[in-house]
Amino acid sequence: MEIHKYVGSIIHADSDWLVVPVTEPVEISGVVSELNESLGGIVSRLVQTGDLTGKLASLVPLRGIDGIAAKRLLFVGLGKGTELTCARLDKALVTAARSCSDKANTRIAVAVPNAAIGGVSPTQFAEASVIAAQIGSQGQDLFRTERNRFSFASASVVASSGMSAELDDAIERGRILGEAINLTRELVNRPADEVTPIAFADRAAAMATECGLGCEIFDQPRLEQERMRALLAVAKGSSQPPRLVILKYQGGRADDPQLALVGKGVTFDSGGLSLKPTDSMLTMKCDMAGAATVLGSLYAISKLKLPVNVVGYMGLVENMTGGGAFKLGDILTARNGVTIEVLNTDAEGRLVLADVLDYAVEAGANKIVDLATLTGACVVALGEDVAGAFTNEQSWCDAVLGAARSVGEDLWQLPMWDFYDDLIKGDVGDIKNTGGRWGGAITAARFLKRFVSDKPWVHLDIAGPAFASSNKPHREGGGTGFGVKTLFKLAQQFRESTSIKP
Ligand code: BES
Ligand code: MN
Ligand code: ZN
Repeated sequence: MEIHKYVGSIIHADSDWLVVPVTEPVEISGVVSELNESLGGIVSRLVQTGDLTGKLASLVPLRGIDGIAAKRLLFVGLGKGTELTCARLDKALVTAARSCSDKANTRIAVAVPNAAIGGVSPTQFAEASVIAAQIGSQGQDLFRTERNRFSFASASVVASSGMSAELDDAIERGRILGEAINLTRELVNRPADEVTPIAFADRAAAMATECGLGCEIFDQPRLEQERMRALLAVAKGSSQPPRLVILKYQGGRADDPQLALVGKGVTFDSGGLSLKPTDSMLTMKCDMAGAATVLGSLYAISKLKLPVNVVGYMGLVENMTGGGAFKLGDILTARNGVTIEVLNTDAEGRLVLADVLDYAVEAGANKIVDLATLTGACVVALGEDVAGAFTNEQSWCDAVLGAARSVGEDLWQLPMWDFYDDLIKGDVGDIKNTGGRWGGAITAARFLKRFVSDKPWVHLDIAGPAFASSNKPHREGGGTGFGVKTLFKLAQQFRESTSIKP
């Protein structure tokens, strides 16, 4: 998709759809008043009749208009100006973009205000517009003959005055973040038959070349050499061999602190011998969303040349029921020596992460964030749109929560009291891989904690928000790309939060 900046009068901005955001109540001033005059007072009439209210994410399309360069106009409501946040703006803009993307080769333009509205600055507005144009026009209908969504031919940001170089930076950031989120979404949306551990690793290697990242891929023999027996156990029931992908981005000095991003990459989770019923298994191509989010965020971090050192770890396996499958009662010795009693082969994500986290610690991680579609229990606790956050160090968790808040992704911290460990204490081995029904998201996090040594670590359980079960006006069903923006923001702030040197 081509991304442009257009500086000048909104009347002359040429496009197939000109998107004009309006607050509630609608004020006939600035660009809205210019449009009103050029279109013979239609905006005032729409307001008078109550057809244009500015309510959040409400759309008023005008087709067949004459008097401005654009072929069609789309008013989109932002709700009350004082209440505008990045999250509300995303909702409005993606709703608008989705409704304009039903035809091929569409050129869209978005009018960006020249002053802040509520908590959103003009540059944030521009960035959000460019992201929305990209994610709103990419559908999950990858294999449909009759498509619902068509990627825009171009997207323009329309600004009445030049604003400054900051605007150009915001547009470029929006372009790269939009590509990153769409990359994550596409990997999640493609079927498990296509996105196997090897195919995922190949895709990561190609991206590493494009982005100038260091890339190491561990195959089965190498994983055995590394004693990653917990990860390997999960792979045993599948004909698809496992992989560990390590991508290295060095944007800072060699001795700067290293941020490790660790992703669960179960390319399909059948549950293994603790087989899932059909309804639960149906969406389990999404179980590599953590790894896809790590990949997407490394794309953005490297393309935008952030001055930090980040290493991404993606643990890739398929959880199946083949004759070699690991069994209930098996005792696994993880890479760090902890012995794990397998009570349920469907609690496989923590086994994969256990060895990868331990490796990341040994490889010099200073701070760690892991992302995993880890437990249904987290979805029960927080709902489908909110990720759970768990930590062993509050200040690091506060940094992650702050980053998420500023980009409008919803995270909620859950407790990590010591006594939860009673639930996963082993009878035959050190720990069990499930703690039963109650507090399931927390016992999973307490399990992971055994593998991060004393490094500051945050675990994000994205089982709810990574994958949406249905289409909504404001977002496509399927992979959502949740977490990419938060990780990017966190990397942006990482230098400030960890640097001791000037
Ligand atoms: N991948 C699932 C968790 C999941 C559930 C992701 C719903 C996305 C949507 C995970 O591997 C799993 O099966 N967890 C079990 C753990 C249990 C056996 C302790 C669960 O949540 O039921
Ligand atoms: Mn599972
Ligand atoms: Zn899983």
